[in-house]
Amino acid sequence: MRLKIIAGNWKMNKTTPEATELARGLIASVGQTERPRVVICPPYTALSEVAKTLKGSSIFLGAQNMYFKESGAYTGEIAPSMLLTIGVAYVILGHSERREYFAESDSIVNEKVKLALKTGLIPIVCVGEKLPDREKGLTEEVIAVQIDGSLAGLGEEEIRKIVIAYEPVWAIGTGKTATPEMAQQVHSFIRKRLRERFAAGAETISILYGGSVNAENAAGLMNQDDIDGALVGGASLKIDQFIGIIRSSGK
Ligand code: PGA
Repeated sequence: MRLKIIAGNWKMNKTTPEATELARGLIASVGQTERPRVVICPPYTALSEVAKTLKGSSIFLGAQNMYFKESGAYTGEIAPSMLLTIGVAYVILGHSERREYFAESDSIVNEKVKLALKTGLIPIVCVGEKLPDREKGLTEEVIAVQIDGSLAGLGEEEIRKIVIAYEPVWAIGTGKTATPEMAQQVHSFIRKRLRERFAAGAETISILYGGSVNAENAAGLMNQDDIDGALVGGASLKIDQFIGIIRSSGK
């Protein structure tokens, strides 16, 4: 059985006091929930304090990015070991906002995925088509290139350790969610692609859906065979919404 994961991507929101307050609120309601697995990804500056707040709860901590080198003269960047030592378990890699605003290519994402795995972080690797791709019928081609490029060189054992998030770019922060059927179609395509490349490793990978997930539409999405959770942006900042998503997502 695949692990169901509900991950909150707080993006560039929340000062450290605000972040710890939100984390405390989550602990009060879902802090002992083992299934689904709950992961929160605050900004870097809040990670250390949120890590302390989460101690003793079942909520996991994630980062929103990392650099693809272990240390050195890379001003402003963060190495995976820095994240691990403060209690971060997951790291979002290749989010469409990183790809779009920070020119992250599949090969950069691939470097990051490899280093995250080597270091012991669990990568949440994001893929997703833009609206013109979908309108031209190119969704599967685009996703295939991103999957192949981002996961290049990994073996079957490594692939078992990663999480994938399918996030159609046109659905992120727009209020336009893919219908459960549209999302399932792409999730099933992703699993098929993974099966071709990584054989049995593909069956256990959790593939999350992301893009305007909220407490109202989560259950319908989570009911689909190949949707194993959600990567939630805006609604993860609103405690009632995020708890609603966790509660309606099943185990
Ligand atoms: P959204 O963002 O839920 O606000 O659409 C999802 C994401 O970017 O991960």
